[in-house]
Amino acid sequence: MIVDIRQLAPHETLPIRLAILRPGMPPESAAFDGDEEASTQHFGAFLEDELVGVSSIYLAPLPGSSVAAAWQLRGMATLPHVRGLGIGGALLEACARAVLTSRGKLLWCNARAGAVAFYAKHGWHTIGEEFEIPTAGAHFRMARQLS
Ligand SMILES: CC(C)(COP(=O)(O)OP(=O)(O)OC[C@H]1O[C@@H](n2cnc3c(N)ncnc32)[C@H](O)[C@@H]1OP(=O)(O)O)[C@@H](O)C(=O)NCCC(=O)NCCS
Repeated sequence: MIVDIRQLAPHETLPIRLAILRPGMPPESAAFDGDEEASTQHFGAFLEDELVGVSSIYLAPLPGSSVAAAWQLRGMATLPHVRGLGIGGALLEACARAVLTSRGKLLWCNARAGAVAFYAKHGWHTIGEEFEIPTAGAHFRMARQLS
């Protein structure tokens, strides 16, 4: 299996985000603030030219932290038929590499409770208590120090 991770234009992330992260919600709910910022980077995982997973990184401070050069991961999703093959992990690593290339030091996210084990496997740790996002359920803030 050869997975190819490529940069995407912002709009290319929307179908997978909508299907996996915003099912049943209006299409505009899949677009995030900052998607079009020059610093933002979007990644897609391709399996034989089929786009099967997406992730995006945004230059954004970690709330409550003074660490400069922090980036937020959002819109992390893979299609159900390719899960468990390492594709989500490959996207995460591509994001970490891109942050390092941009001289970033920290990558953080608001992780769905169900995805905490996935991030932990890739060197992320939780910060603080569980919290609720009204449309998306229980979350933990998680981060990975990159330097
Ligand atoms: C989380 C997600 C991106 C992982 O993608 P993936 O392509 O399956 O990732 P990988 O194959 O690299 O890693 C799978 C590993 O992560 C863990 N994992 C993945 N999804 C998990 C889940 N929902 N619950 C618990 N563990 C999970 C598994 O332990 C698995 O480990 P294993 O290989 O030891 O079995 C994918 O499950 C997904 O899109 N889920 C729905 C959307 C979502 O929750 N996104 C994260 C928002 S914060």
